[in-house]
Order: sequence, then C-alpha cells, then structure tokens
Amino acid sequence: MTAFYLTTPIYYVNALPHLGHAYTTIVADSLVRFQRLMGKDSLFITGTDEHGDKIVQAAEKAGSSPQKLADDVSAAFRSLWPRLDVAPAGFVRTTDESHKAVVRAFLQKVHDAGDIYFGEYSGHYCYGCERFYTEKELENGLCPQHLTKPELISERNYFFRMSRYQDWLKQHILEKPDFIRPERYRTEVLALLDSGVLDDLCISRPKSRLTWGIELPFDPQYVCYVWFDALLAYISALGGPESPDFRRYWPQSEHLVAKDILKPHAVFWPTMLKAADLPLFRHLNVHGYWLVRDTKMSKSLGNVIAPLAMADTFGNDVFRYFLLREMHFGNDASFSEEALTARLNADLANDLGNLFSRVLSMTAKFCRSAVPEPGPDEDLERALKKVAEESVSNFKNLFSRLRFSAALESLWELVRALNKYVDAAAPWNLAKNNDGERLGTVLHTLLRYMYIVAVHLWPVMPRKAEVMLEQLGLPVGPEGPSSGILDREDLFAVPLMPGSAVASFSNLFPRRDSEAEASMPGWSVTEEAGGGKNNSGAACPSADRVDAGDPAPGGAIEFSDFQKLELRVGTVTACEAHPNADKLLRVMVDLGESSVRQIIAGIAEFFVPENIVGKQVVVVANLAPRKLRGLESRGMILAVRKDEGLELLSVTAPVVPGSRVS
Ligand code: MSP
Repeated sequence: MTAFYLTTPIYYVNALPHLGHAYTTIVADSLVRFQRLMGKDSLFITGTDEHGDKIVQAAEKAGSSPQKLADDVSAAFRSLWPRLDVAPAGFVRTTDESHKAVVRAFLQKVHDAGDIYFGEYSGHYCYGCERFYTEKELENGLCPQHLTKPELISERNYFFRMSRYQDWLKQHILEKPDFIRPERYRTEVLALLDSGVLDDLCISRPKSRLTWGIELPFDPQYVCYVWFDALLAYISALGGPESPDFRRYWPQSEHLVAKDILKPHAVFWPTMLKAADLPLFRHLNVHGYWLVRDTKMSKSLGNVIAPLAMADTFGNDVFRYFLLREMHFGNDASFSEEALTARLNADLANDLGNLFSRVLSMTAKFCRSAVPEPGPDEDLERALKKVAEESVSNFKNLFSRLRFSAALESLWELVRALNKYVDAAAPWNLAKNNDGERLGTVLHTLLRYMYIVAVHLWPVMPRKAEVMLEQLGLPVGPEGPSSGILDREDLFAVPLMPGSAVASFSNLFPRRDSEAEASMPGWSVTEEAGGGKNNSGAACPSADRVDAGDPAPGGAIEFSDFQKLELRVGTVTACEAHPNADKLLRVMVDLGESSVRQIIAGIAEFFVPENIVGKQVVVVANLAPRKLRGLESRGMILAVRKDEGLELLSVTAPVVPGSRVS
C-alpha cells in the first residue's frame, strides 16, 4: 500500500489555538481521511513548538515559567483536536527528549560535514520573529512583521552554510513544478532566490541571552535557534531518520503551512535536509490567511475566533465543511458567522439535507422505508450517471491537489442534479399512477447516489457522513468507509439490497436564522420543518418534499391579523422529542404541499410522540417561521385545554391533508 505522510506546522505555545490553527489541522485531517479512502496508508502529525525567546517572553508576561506555559498550552492544543474530530497519528512537543535527541544528532551531522561554522554577526534582531533582519528587509527601519524597531546586536554565533545551496535549491524548484504549490508561492520563492545572494543562517543563541532551547552538541555555551529545532519535528515525529517509519513514510511526505512561514519551509528546510544528506519532502502546500471581516485576526483587535465556540454553535461537521468550501486554497478568505450561516442554509440544509429528507420521506411513504427493486434505466438515469461520474472524478482529482473548494463544488453538481432528478422524475406522480417499477428505479437510483455522495463527504464531514450512511442502511464504524473505496473500479456498484430498511426521516442540517431565536411561547404554540426519526414506517401521503427554506405561503401574520389566518388540516407523519427542550416536540405535518412541515410544539408534557403519528391536526399554516431552541418551526398546531391535559384540534372524519378550515 502506498504511504502518505502529512504534517501541520507545530504551533507556538505563546497563544491558545484559534481559527487559523484549526483550519490547517482540519485540512490535514480531511486530506489524510481522503487519502485513506483512496487506498493509501495515510497519517498526519501535529504538535507544539516550545523553545525560544518568544515563549520565554510570553511566560514572563503570564507570570509563569516557560515549561509551565508550554505544558498548559500544548495540552490545550492536544485536547482540542479530538473535539474537532481531528485525529493526528502523532503529537510532537519540541521539549520531548526524543525530539531533542534527533535535533542534536542532526546538528552534529551537519557540523561534522563542515556546513556549520562559528563566526561574528551583527544585525538587526527582532525578538518577535526571533531572527535577524538585513537592512534591506526592514521597512522604514522597522520589522515588517511587527512594525517594531529591531535591536542592533553583535555577537559570535554558529552559522549554517545555507548560501552554498542556493543554486541547487533553485534548480530543484525549477525541475519540480509542484514542489511548492500553489504556483504563486513557488513564484514567490523563486523571486526570493533570484533577488540576491542567500545569507547563511544563524542557528545558535548564546546562553548568556537565552537558555530555553536545545543545547548544541558541540558547544554547551549555546542553544539551537528555534527554527533549526522546530523543523526537525517533522522527522522526530517518525522516530528519527534511522527509524522504519521514516523509511516508509518520508519519501511520501508533504507539509501543510500558511504563507506566514513560507521562507523557513521553502528555503531553510530543504537546504537543511540536503546538508544532512536526507531526502527532500515531496510537496510544500501553502495556504492563505483567514481574515475576520477582511481584517487580520489579532488579540488586540479582539477578533480572534475560538474554533470550539464556532464548532459548538454550528456543529463540527458544518464548521469543517465551511472552512474547506469557503477558502480557495492558497488565497486569503474572510470568516464571518453570516458566511457560515449562508453556507449552512444554502449548501447543507437546502441542497444536501433536503435531498436526504425528501428521498427518505418518499421511500417511507411509497415503499414503507424498504429499498425498492430497480427496473431498467431510462434517459433520465443515463444522464444522471454521466453527471455522477464526472462529478466524483473531478472531486477526487481536485481534492488530491488540495483544491478543496472546487472539489466540493464539483460534488454539489451531483447533489443538485439529484434534486433536479427528483423534480423531473416526480415519484409522487409515479405512485399516483401505480407505476411501481419506474418508482422503484427512481428511488433506488436516488438512494444509490446518496450513498456515493455520503462516502465522498466522509473526509470533510465524518460524523454527518456516518449518519447519512446509517440512514441509508449502510452503516460504517468510526474508521469510516473501507480503505480504497474511492479508488475502486466498481465504486458505483453500491451494496444497496432491495428490501433492506432505510430511515423514514432525515433532518441532517437544520437551518439557522441569523436573527435571535424566539423565546418559548405558550403551550398552544407549536411549529417547524425538519426532523426526527419516524421508525413507524407509516405512509406519509404527499410527503414528497421537505423544504425547510420556504416561508409559509402567504407570509407572516401578527395576532391582530387574526382574520387573515390560514387554517388547514394536516396529517402528522412523524414526531419525536426536541433534542434541547423538555417541553417541546418536533412534529412533521403533511399539509399536502410539496414539502412536509416541521412544527415545534410545546406539548411534550401531554403527549407520547408515537401516539400523535397518523393523527390529523389543525395547523396555522401561514405563521412566519420561528426558531424554537435551535429548530425552525413553520406553523402552529392548535390545541385546547381539557382539565389538566390538552386535546389537539382535529376533524371528526379523515380529510385530504391540506384541506382549508373555513
Ligand atoms: N511554530 C511555528 C511553526 C513551526 S513549523 C516547524 C509557527 N507557529 S504558529 O503558531 O505561529 O502557527 C503558524 C501557522 O498557524 C500558520 O502557518 C497556519 O498554519 C496557522 N495559522 C495561524 N494563523 C492563521 C490564519 N489567520 N489563517 C490561516 N492559518 C493561520 O509559525
């Protein structure tokens, strides 16, 4: 099995994890999951970068010691990842003894080879960047990153003969067009190499100035420069250059970084490897920056986005999907809750969630939630197959080249084509005309392609994809779909068995309103569109489309507009407890429309959910949608107090769902 090894930067412990760190690490996790589905033996590592001035200064500021700060912040990073469903195979701390041993051996090797020398250096040192700047690099005498005046320092130090490898590096980048990608960063590095002679790199700090680092094996008066230490984490994570894992994974290694640390990765790191006679990594993948409303994230601006807060509000999978879909890898992207909400409502609730909801609801209604037997394909299926093949082939191609946004867009071509196919094939008409064979073909086709969509989405939205697969009666464990599944010739031979059970109800992605949620109204108010599971397998007449997005026909009304009320009789097709409120039930009502309504009703203390299924109720159908404890409600079920209990308003004989009360 081919190997695939990916690294994220190892993050400084001077700040708690934020959106930027979460992005890179989520990308790494998704890519590794994807490569696993492509049949590769894949893993990624992350970790924390704990030495250097920056950490000493941060510890002083926090009234702590460097070790304590490193322990605390490293633990914060480490514990964040599982909460974001991110599963690194290793977590390196640069204060680990095993890492220090790799650094010392590496330094010794390069020193022995004659590429480290002792010399005098004076230059402009920026403590924030932990590096010297040349005159030329300063902007108006200030550090271009921190806009602070660097200190003029003159001291004797050890230097790595980096300049020696300038021509070799340039040649390598020219020969391997995707060594640094996307192209714009390759161009940037080539321009840098062309702009003048590459300086040698100062790789030591005298202990008189800094003790928080790895001591040089050939001079105990010095510690190692933090970058020369940190980059080696990519190798120490595998157990060092002599380990079997290094031999297995290193030839297939790739790095993932943002543009801020392009130079150390594109210039220092390959030349270091060359000097130590070690093979180079295959790709350096560079992404842009997340901005918050077009501004850089910064503590002082108070706009640092805490990833867990966003994941808690929207759910991990929605957050992960948004990050990969919204940023065009390589360019900057702008983060806002509005953008997240828009993606959730449009791509996930309307397109994907709606597809699952309407197809499973129709399968419940027409086939008692059993996978139907398919008949022969017709033109519609043949056209759909073409779209599907193209969509997944583009998805794979783009995803493996880190073009995540375009890959997802390509998969959505299939999702949208499936929704169109529902409209064109109109299963409700086939059911009405008793065309069982054709109905079977259409629903079977839809369920098959929904499986294909779910499997492709697993790398990005592992938990939601697992729910989708479970709803389709094809559950997978936490390891996800089987390794290599996306690379199989028979990818489209979906193991859907006619007669096997699928869920009768799906509400994968409840819509979110940006406005504040409505407070809990009285018991007689109810509402919403979306979900719960109806395992009764009961028929749900006309439940052919759940579209939580459309407002109720006729628009919103106020109480004073009572006479304008649109009262209709509907059939309850499913009902379950609200996940976040004891007093609420989530009721699905068939009003004879193209969609089943989700209504959140404050009646939980009076009814057992299953007992309502099948009942006909009276609904205020033109009430404006409202949010009740996180779920949108699209209507109100009417009820009347009786003694200590509640009676639902109904009709004395069954009527066609949607009949107007007049
Ligand atoms: N410790 C070094 C890396 C050493 S790697 C051998 C470092 N650490 S860092 O904590 O500053 O992390 C920088 C990385 O965090 C970026 O390269 C990127 O992966 C991520 N991000 C930090 N802020 C970011 C954004 N605003 N947007 C996107 N990613 C960003 O540099």
